Amino acid sequence: MSQPTISDLANEDRLFPPPPAFQAAALASDNSLYREADADHEAFWARQARELITWSSDFHTTLEWELPDARWFVGGTLNVSENCLDRHVAAGKGTKVAFHWEGEPGDTRTITYADLLDEVSRFANVLKDLGVEKGDRVAIYMPMIPELPVALLACTRIGAAHSVIFGGFSPDSIVDRVNDGECKLVITADGGFRRGAPSPLKPNVDEALASCPSVTGVVVVRRTDTEVTMVEGRDHWYHELVGSASPECPPEPMDSEDLLFLLYTSGTTAKPKGIMHTTGGYLTQVAFTHKYVFDLKPETDVYWCSADVGWITGHSYIVYGPLANGATSVLYEGTPDTPGKDRLWDIVERYGVTQLYTAPTAIRMFMKWGAEEPEKHDLSSLRLLGTVGEPINPEAWIWYHTHIGGGRCPIVDTWWQTETGGHMITPLPGVTALKPGSATFPLPGIGVELVDDHGQPIERGGGYLTLTLPWPSMLRGIWGDPQRYFDTYWSTYPGRYFAGDGAKIDDDGYLWLLGRVDDVMNVSGHRISTTEVESALVDHPAVAEAAVVGASDDLTGQAIVGYVIVVNTAEPSDELVEEIRQHVAHKIGPTARPKRVIIVPDLPKTRSGKIMRRLLRDVAEGRDLGDTTTLADPTVVDAIRSSAAEGPGSGR
Ligand code: WT7
Repeated sequence: MSQPTISDLANEDRLFPPPPAFQAAALASDNSLYREADADHEAFWARQARELITWSSDFHTTLEWELPDARWFVGGTLNVSENCLDRHVAAGKGTKVAFHWEGEPGDTRTITYADLLDEVSRFANVLKDLGVEKGDRVAIYMPMIPELPVALLACTRIGAAHSVIFGGFSPDSIVDRVNDGECKLVITADGGFRRGAPSPLKPNVDEALASCPSVTGVVVVRRTDTEVTMVEGRDHWYHELVGSASPECPPEPMDSEDLLFLLYTSGTTAKPKGIMHTTGGYLTQVAFTHKYVFDLKPETDVYWCSADVGWITGHSYIVYGPLANGATSVLYEGTPDTPGKDRLWDIVERYGVTQLYTAPTAIRMFMKWGAEEPEKHDLSSLRLLGTVGEPINPEAWIWYHTHIGGGRCPIVDTWWQTETGGHMITPLPGVTALKPGSATFPLPGIGVELVDDHGQPIERGGGYLTLTLPWPSMLRGIWGDPQRYFDTYWSTYPGRYFAGDGAKIDDDGYLWLLGRVDDVMNVSGHRISTTEVESALVDHPAVAEAAVVGASDDLTGQAIVGYVIVVNTAEPSDELVEEIRQHVAHKIGPTARPKRVIIVPDLPKTRSGKIMRRLLRDVAEGRDLGDTTTLADPTVVDAIRSSAAEGPGSGR
């Protein structure tokens, strides 16, 4: 018999049905959305588009699909900033809070929908005065301050596409992205606050722009009041221009398929890809998912997504989804440990946050810091929790459920990608019975199938995650490279979008994400996912965080090497290492027992919190490190190397 495509090792049978009170009040509390979408997926999305979005002119065709090119809501016109602002103000909600903004030093601003409309309109006029026209691209490199969503919305108001570059990126990354998109203007700030100190941004822009011929102007927001150089004729202060601009700026009606933004995928290996998202389909899906996945009650909820606007999560679930739905959100500038490790819980308590959306890496960090941090605060306002970015291991899920959600909040584990634009696989919190660690089922209107090595659909066990239907917020291409778009996403399994992730389906039909297929290890012919081994490692009480890789091995092809961070109270020793190895064998089977477990002080991560397993493989195989430019903290690799050479588990 042939080996399964990816082994299915872990087993989880805890089940959390929607709490009855939550279900009774939920926007979706039964299977009707699924049934409607199953009957006619285009008609389902057309209804959402017409109900959730205000169109300047209605579309005549829901979908034109010629793989790999989709056109959604063809013939429709709309303006995104009008949908996010004007229509709410016109409906009498001008005084409703759009953002409770909190700066890291503790300064705050309350921004209503009327305030936001005024500021966006002024800044849109500024952009026009600086020569930005419909169809141009504008780069945005900013901290998490209110002017960041203002900048995005001002671009959409005049029909310019934005390209947000995460504020933690280097001048080189700015150069690559600005040049690839031929951006005309850069919007930035003097700096932002991180870990209690100003962190400069404008000097990085200055350095980058020496190599960016397309840029004719720079707008600079004053945030940290640090000294910056202003280039005469090129650089302008935001406050000076906005202060004297007119607050009247009619929104430009855009075609449903006009480019809304470019966002470059982090690109841990090759040249970053400029993912293209367009207008009508994107806004429809982010509004739909933000409403139903977070069970949004805009009149009473205070929603908080703690991601950075520099990632797709921030685009879709800080800016566009919440504002299209008229939500009240929290926007926070800084880090979770400044001034104390209870900063997030302090914010939840003070604003009465009802939904919190964060990443599994953050949750494991909170676990490491201890339950006493959230226990300092009243978190009883929370009624729903969400996660995104990587698989959540059951232990972290249970901790989040218990210590943050007080045992009463459903958790929506949302699987999606920069490329998908919006949620794809996730529970609906009033409908789905949850299993800790499973993203559960595809949303209504989304088609998912797992396939084997031959591209044949499988109904149980592990395989490759593919999407079988076009969806409204799907990427429309890679900027400037249609061939790469086809090759990357549509060529591996004909007729299907291949997401690059492995997943498995259990006996109840639940989907479990297994990480990137490039990371799947091959141990004596068994294809084992990093996710399942990592999850078994962190299940040991002494392990706070874990990353595993397959390192070349003469005997078994690849051998599993686990890097673990232990909790503060654990004493690193060879005995502990042995115990942890056995724990994995006991939990998911002897084939998955790591050959080595190395206790390390930290793990190499990107700025968005993804573990860079490639670097750990380099260490495990004794190679020089590959590209480390996207590493959040370059010093961690040396610490890992010395742990591997002489710490417990080194076999020294
Ligand atoms: C990749 C996409 C989606 C916004 C943030 C990341 C992984 C994402 C989950 C989840 C398991 C997840 C996948 C995916 N991923 N969410 N809930 N469970 N894995 O966006 O940088 O484009 O990364 O993140 O591997 O392909 P991105």
